[in-house]
Amino acid sequence: MANNAPNIDLSDSFEKIPVKIFPDLQQGSKYAAQQVAALIRAKQKKNEKCVLGLATGSTPKSMYAELVRMHREEKLSFKNVITFNLDEYYPIDNDALQSYNRFMRLNLFDHIDINTKNIHIPNGEVKKEEIKLHCRHYEKMIEEAGGIDLQILGIGNNGHIGFNEPGSGIYSKTRLITLDNSTRIANAYEFANISEVPRLAITMGIGTIIKAKRILLMAWGEGKAPVLQKAVEGDVTEHVPASLLQDHNDVTFVVDESAASQLTRKKSPWLTGDCEWTPKMIKKAVVNMALKLQKPVLSLTNTDYNEYGLSDLLVEKGDAYEINLQVYYMLRDTITGWPAGKPGVVLPEHPERSVPYPKRVIIFSPHPDDDIISMGGTFQRLHDQGNDVHVAYQTSGNIAVTDEFVTRFLDFAVGFEEIAGIDTRKSGKILQDAQKYLARKKSNQVDTAKIRAIKGLIRRCEARATCRYVGIKETNIHFLNLPFYETGTIEKKPMGEKDIKITMELLRQIKPHQVFCAGDLSDPHGTHKVCLDIILEALRRIKNAGDEWIADCWLWLYKGAWQEWNIEEIEMAIPMSPDQVLKKRFGIFIHQSQKDMVPFQGSDSREFWQRAEARNENTANLYADLGLTHYAAMEAFVRWLY
Ligand code: F6R
Repeated sequence: MANNAPNIDLSDSFEKIPVKIFPDLQQGSKYAAQQVAALIRAKQKKNEKCVLGLATGSTPKSMYAELVRMHREEKLSFKNVITFNLDEYYPIDNDALQSYNRFMRLNLFDHIDINTKNIHIPNGEVKKEEIKLHCRHYEKMIEEAGGIDLQILGIGNNGHIGFNEPGSGIYSKTRLITLDNSTRIANAYEFANISEVPRLAITMGIGTIIKAKRILLMAWGEGKAPVLQKAVEGDVTEHVPASLLQDHNDVTFVVDESAASQLTRKKSPWLTGDCEWTPKMIKKAVVNMALKLQKPVLSLTNTDYNEYGLSDLLVEKGDAYEINLQVYYMLRDTITGWPAGKPGVVLPEHPERSVPYPKRVIIFSPHPDDDIISMGGTFQRLHDQGNDVHVAYQTSGNIAVTDEFVTRFLDFAVGFEEIAGIDTRKSGKILQDAQKYLARKKSNQVDTAKIRAIKGLIRRCEARATCRYVGIKETNIHFLNLPFYETGTIEKKPMGEKDIKITMELLRQIKPHQVFCAGDLSDPHGTHKVCLDIILEALRRIKNAGDEWIADCWLWLYKGAWQEWNIEEIEMAIPMSPDQVLKKRFGIFIHQSQKDMVPFQGSDSREFWQRAEARNENTANLYADLGLTHYAAMEAFVRWLY
């Protein structure tokens, strides 16, 4: 534990588990892979077997990719390696798209020189009456292998490790368990829809995991930040299974900056040692204090500062009154009803320039509905205020249209052909074939290119309808259909040259003064992060090429459907009236294919419009709590310097 570790420094003094923080998941994964490789090699030198406990899910993928690279390029051999996987869905065919057996072959085993006899994964095909025996046997095999030398873990949003859901005891062994509903929802992104996610799983127990000689738990992305904070800084409790690792004597958490963001040393660095009082840090400290004490910023007193641990700030910057004012003005200056700047006035503190006006604007929307969900109010204002607003839909979003939904459209189209007397022999019976295909489609079968195109068309029509609703003209709507997305599966390709070229072309054609895009800086499940990386790379290349217009192009990030910026990070807040909130709601409703059965909701089961409204209202309430004007709702943006 950190508190017993030598050379303890104050910065991690709230942490009861050693945490290594890396700038991003790539670097963290590289570190984890190096640890694994070093152990394998050390064991090889001693002619010993190396027993690894392995995890699945999105978290360890980059680590496996790095191990595969090391195998290929650095001659890392896995001949002495024995593996035991943590878990498997139950029941599931070993070859099913979502099975962890298949996952391991795809991501690791098929690409390395491990002896297949040394691979152990709980079997999702075992008969129910044989499961107990299967689990006992699994434990026995681990023991016979000499126990696990290094256990790799991820962490669930509810704190689970393996599939040990909250309530799992410290002595639990390999067993069949019922998946928490939150886990089923979180993992629904791998399946066609939530009802397809198995209700059960076989998992190693906490007792099994904790017997490992060494443990590395990885966590990426802000979604994991709250539970990571609980596991690392909270009490040891079965309600947060990962917190039970506090009692292990050789465990390290390997995380990225986003997952670490709720740790005290990141969230309130002034509590863990010296901190540099930049304006940003002052804003963060004072805003968090005001919210905690439930006081408007201008009502904070010297005593509040002292009692909240900010006496240091008082010493450096003087009186509470002065600091309060500074922070209040910073907050006030983020609020504007003019997202492209207010024409004809000089407002030096305004988040946007007032000239040129009107502006050329591109809103990049990773999926066909992110524009309206995440910045519908701002979208409308930009248009209403006379700017030349273009929308670029980056991906087709076809994966998120259910078979039931597309069947409804096919039924309509076939009926239409009949009514219109269209000779289907001539039209090639595309629709009938599609209908037949869907009727026979096995669960989890990958769609044909035609079906994907039809699903994409449905979303395209919805996006177009939204643009019409906002008032955007046809020529300002751009469907980029970026190729990285078009795999037909949840797993997407990495960003490619074509994606960047398509994006550069559009940017060069429009020469925007403002670009808005989804700023999901860390999103292990992918699409939004890749979409952002593509835009950043396109802008970087254009800048390097010396295009003149780019010097005058500002990039604003909105958050995708899942999260909001922290209040202290917001650099532009666009208020919305109750009517504008309703208008946005109806704009989101246009995306009918995404209603009710959205397969990719992450761990939040509310519909998109509900989440968007709650989030915009929450931002407005926070501003009000801090002592600023109380609006009905607000959309929030951060400016990104590239
Ligand atoms: C997977 C496993 C789980 C995951 C956890 C996080 O073998 O045991 O505990 O590590 O659910 O999942 P991801 O990595 O998809 O966020």
